[in-house]
Amino acid sequence: MHAPPSDPNKRGAFGSRLGFILAAAGSAIGLGNIWRFPYTAGENGGGAFVLLYLVFVVALGLPVLLAELSLGRASKSNPVGAFKRFFPESWWPYVGGLGVLTGFGILAFYVVIAGWSLSYLGRALSGAFDGAMTAEQSGALFNEIISSPLETVAMAAVFLVLTASVVRAGVGGGIELASKILMPVFFLLLLVLAGRSLTLPGADKGIDFLFGTDFSKLSGQGIMSALGQALFSLSLGMGAMITYGSYLPDKENLPVAGAAVAFFDTLIAMLGGLIIFPALFSQGMEPAGGPGLVFVVLPTIFHSLPMGSLFAVAFYGLLSIAALTSTISLLEVVVAYFVDEKGWDRSKAVMLIAPATLLLAVPSALSQGAVGFFSKFIGGKGFLDVQDILFGNISLSVGALLISVFVGWKWGAKKALEEMGDFSLGAIWSILIRFACPVAVGAVLVTYVVGLFGE
Ligand code: PHE
Repeated sequence: MHAPPSDPNKRGAFGSRLGFILAAAGSAIGLGNIWRFPYTAGENGGGAFVLLYLVFVVALGLPVLLAELSLGRASKSNPVGAFKRFFPESWWPYVGGLGVLTGFGILAFYVVIAGWSLSYLGRALSGAFDGAMTAEQSGALFNEIISSPLETVAMAAVFLVLTASVVRAGVGGGIELASKILMPVFFLLLLVLAGRSLTLPGADKGIDFLFGTDFSKLSGQGIMSALGQALFSLSLGMGAMITYGSYLPDKENLPVAGAAVAFFDTLIAMLGGLIIFPALFSQGMEPAGGPGLVFVVLPTIFHSLPMGSLFAVAFYGLLSIAALTSTISLLEVVVAYFVDEKGWDRSKAVMLIAPATLLLAVPSALSQGAVGFFSKFIGGKGFLDVQDILFGNISLSVGALLISVFVGWKWGAKKALEEMGDFSLGAIWSILIRFACPVAVGAVLVTYVVGLFGE
């Protein structure tokens, strides 16, 4: 994929279907699958949450993905421009504006977690995982990393610099090549880790937790989290897929490409769960461990593999790269807005937005014990969790609701279908985007807000 030049008539385009699928899958696959999915599933009681998440991916996520891609390709524009293109005199472009803001908000906490994985990569390289590690030792290492203000802020900054340099240069050859080769390697590595985890003593408890459905464990908040996770994981509700759709060649069939992206993204989240939960129960740990879950559980399994420390290095290296292809898409949305709509130079946009992101990232980085005020920010939740809920769940859901109303009713499902190309399930998609998505997402949001006030 090439960087979009400031002249909207000369936008970059993906060379091939594979190039697009890799870029979109690169955006979708990231910390959302390996870090966020297991920890939210753990906090929300497991199986019933997982089932609901899967239903949301198929019934809501996939339709919204196709809506965003067709809107993006038809308008050849950033999220704000996409709405403006068809209805310039309406309030709809503000929906795109919300997306840009949300991208900024997600990026600001995402780089903190990505920074943790850089810290772990450093520890892995220096041989920290050479010997066996108990759950207590692993927890102590995690605490050492996240409660160090210097290390967390510095690593988040390093990650932002990496992201900014790629977005500034344009998302050209290097990263595309890297994801063509490295993402399949990541996939294989995840398979091996899942295989190891599943053969640990007591692994079956992990399977029961992940797939045993007990709906009594699911609260209104849990339903909101399942929807938020489905959208977050597919990079939906804030225009990342509108932006990527705008770089797609006209002849490409959207439903096939979209289904492939959703399939791999979901598969990798499931693999994430199959790595974490069997190992977790085998160690006698608590599934509701919060944002640190993955980071604490994983080190306990590396040593039980031959050449374990090599696995550790590969895992954290590849996880960081998977996170990078996601942060690129988050920053790209914000940058594309300032370049297309405000006429900024691409470099200038990156140079201003990246430091602003770091400012908002600092309180998140300090919210894991380093500074008390940020660690218990609202209702006992830390700044990072609050950011994640606000931008990652609520804002994405509001965005997805408005995008489905816009594409289904205002712009029109018919226009979107013309844009998509051959689609035998077009009639079903129409019903989902016009009725199921707005009603279901609206209902989840209302239930959640009512629940908040009922507390
Ligand atoms: N989908 C990414 C992940 O799972 C995160 C993301 C969300 C990226 C929204 C872009 C937009 O890690």
